[in-house]
Amino acid sequence: MHVILTGGAGYIGTHTAVVLAERGHEITVIDDFSNSSPVALQRTAEIIGREVRVIEADLADREAARAAFSGLDADAVIHFAGLKAVGESVAEPTRYYRVNIDSTINVLDQMRERGINRLVFSSSATVYGNPEKLPIDESHRVGVGVTNPYGWTKAMIEQIIRDAQKIHPELAAVLLRYFNPVGAHPSGLIGEDPSGIPNNLMPFVAQVAVGKREQLSVFGDSYPTVDGTGVRDYIHVMDLAAGHVAALENSKPGVAAYNLGSGTGSSVLEVVAAFEAASGRKIDYRIVPARAGDVAEMVADPHKANTELGWRTELTLADACRDSWNWQSANPNGYAEQGE
Ligand code: UD1
Repeated sequence: MHVILTGGAGYIGTHTAVVLAERGHEITVIDDFSNSSPVALQRTAEIIGREVRVIEADLADREAARAAFSGLDADAVIHFAGLKAVGESVAEPTRYYRVNIDSTINVLDQMRERGINRLVFSSSATVYGNPEKLPIDESHRVGVGVTNPYGWTKAMIEQIIRDAQKIHPELAAVLLRYFNPVGAHPSGLIGEDPSGIPNNLMPFVAQVAVGKREQLSVFGDSYPTVDGTGVRDYIHVMDLAAGHVAALENSKPGVAAYNLGSGTGSSVLEVVAAFEAASGRKIDYRIVPARAGDVAEMVADPHKANTELGWRTELTLADACRDSWNWQSANPNGYAEQGE
């Protein structure tokens, strides 16, 4: 298949591009590089052994979206493009709604106009809000108790895709609800490169390990969990990437939602210990008050993806820490040559 990857220069997009290329698919990346680097695509090309076709465009701009899609004879779109920082979304809600929703609407219009009938959307377990029961399966309610505009854009986009599919009945749309993506390609050539101070746990821990940050703040130690710290379902980005390819290849007309997670939860302190073991470095930390909007525990029930997509996670938290350390130690400043 010829697959368009919107936001394909980002963390999950680049890793998915590698797995798509390994499976023999043709890829075109559309990205505006507002939160990603062209170097990431050069590295991706190095891994797959050929150039990656890239179109620079802001998909939230209707005319730019039309121009980007014109002349691309594609079979499918994997829609990663969007803003994704929770705190920033609280500070700049209208920007988050405009960018994430307008770009999706433009992608859907272009797909319908051009008869592109397969879509995989980069959604998030955040659409489940505060879980009613654990592990979470796909029948869990969506959009209740979402705590920030970023999360709301994901819930709203899921609904927009469901409505758009009704008037584009050939469309096979898959909503992938990611749990917590971590790790990097085993080559160490590509990985997560957050701008500024990382919001997420694993990149912060990696930067403490490499000496870029002094100390991790552990957000709360009195949750009703194994050791009082927050528990999440960490999924290796290579497993996550493989999940996109399985979703694409098994998609059928209609809309289907799948959790992409391992089914296993790990606490913050377990992640710290796993990273210390993988890196041989001590991770200094202190306990601080819980972060607003955080939940105690999020763990996927991945059975639907296991059975319907024939996909399951194969890599462990230890593998993710090893690969994340490999990437971070080889690229202490990410894709930038120096500094942040
Ligand atoms: C967060 C977002 C989620 C988003 C996901 C991926 C919130 C409420 N949720 O998920 O919407 O889809 O990132 O971008 O922000 N932690 C620390 N210290 C840190 C950072 C994190 O103790 O410096 C803890 C958190 O409290 C949590 C765990 O580590 O228990 C994982 O945090 P994080 O990596 O930010 O992911 P989520 O909060 O699960």
